[in-house]
Order: sequence, then C-alpha cells, then structure tokens
Amino acid sequence: MPNAITMLKADHVKVKRLLNELNEVTAPKQRESLVAQIERELKTHTQIEEEVFYPAFKAAAEKTDAVDMFYEAAEEHHLVDMVLPALKAANPKSHEFEAKAKVIKELVEHHVKEEENEMFPKMRQLVGEEQLREIGDLMQARREQIEAMWDHPILRQVKKAQSAAGKLMPTKVKTAKAAVISKVMGDRSEAR
Ligand SMILES: [Fe+2]
Ligand SMILES: [Fe+2]
Repeated sequence: MPNAITMLKADHVKVKRLLNELNEVTAPKQRESLVAQIERELKTHTQIEEEVFYPAFKAAAEKTDAVDMFYEAAEEHHLVDMVLPALKAANPKSHEFEAKAKVIKELVEHHVKEEENEMFPKMRQLVGEEQLREIGDLMQARREQIEAMWDHPILRQVKKAQSAAGKLMPTKVKTAKAAVISKVMGDRSEAR
C-alpha cells in the first residue's frame, strides 16, 4: 500500500526532470512532445492533490495556523493552470515559449519546495502512517481513473468537459468544494 507523501514526491521528481529537459532542448518537435508529457503529468498530479491530498490536509490542519498552507498551495496551482495553456499555445521556436517554459519551471520548483519542506512534514505531524497509507490508496484509485481518461479518446471528452468546468470555477468555488470534501473526511475520521 502506497504512502501518500511518498507517491507525491515521486511525481515531483518526474515532473521536475521533464521541466529541466524542456528548458534544455531546442528542437521544436522535442519541445512539443515534452510539453504534452508535462501537461499530462502536472494535471494528473495537481488533480489528485486537489481532490484527495489537499482536502485531507485541510481537514487535519483545520484548527491550526497550518491551514494557511492549503490556501497558498491552491493559489499556486491556479497560477500553473494559467501558465500551462499559454505555454501550449506558444510557438515552440519563439522566445516567448522559452520564457514561459522558464516561468513554469520556477513556479513548479517553488511550489514543490513548499510542499516538501512545509506541508508534507506538517501532514506527518498531524496524521499517522496508517492514515497516510489510506490517503495513498484513495489517491492511487483516483490516479487510475484519471490515467484511463488520458489513455482512452472517448473518456478524454469527459475529461475535457470536466476541465472546462474547472476553469470556469473561481478559486473560491474550488476552495469551497475542497472544504466540503474535507468535512466529509473529517466526519468519517471522527466516526471511527
Ligand atoms: Fe501541489
Ligand atoms: Fe505536489
């Protein structure tokens, strides 16, 4: 059974490696293929965090100052959500593409550093190993569904509709949604 934090850290290593590569290569075809891989990795990872890990963190940290880390992390995801489509739309031969690739790399590195140095250690203080494994299981199940959507063209239409709806949602609504999920998770752990 996977531990939630170990799983997220493994994703971080992968996405940082892809972003480094993107900032090194110059061939347009290679750049395009890397952007496609980065999009898939980043979107899958942030979706799992937003739907499972962050609500669990929010529930655990609710009555402490650490809950601020949840709001900050959600805002940083929002920034990546804005830069990624701009990178996809940029001409891979242009200076603009290079600038956007650099900005997204810096954003992700900053965000990952905060998760790994602040949020994850805090989560370890707040919940035990057993709960981290339970959250890991939920994340793994969700990942399999998301991966299936990327792999199957028919399901991808569902995915597109979902992400269009997600883009229309202001951060406030996303945060409210996360609050609802965290309440459900909180109620569940109280009931044990
Ligand atoms: Fe994140
Ligand atoms: Fe992350």
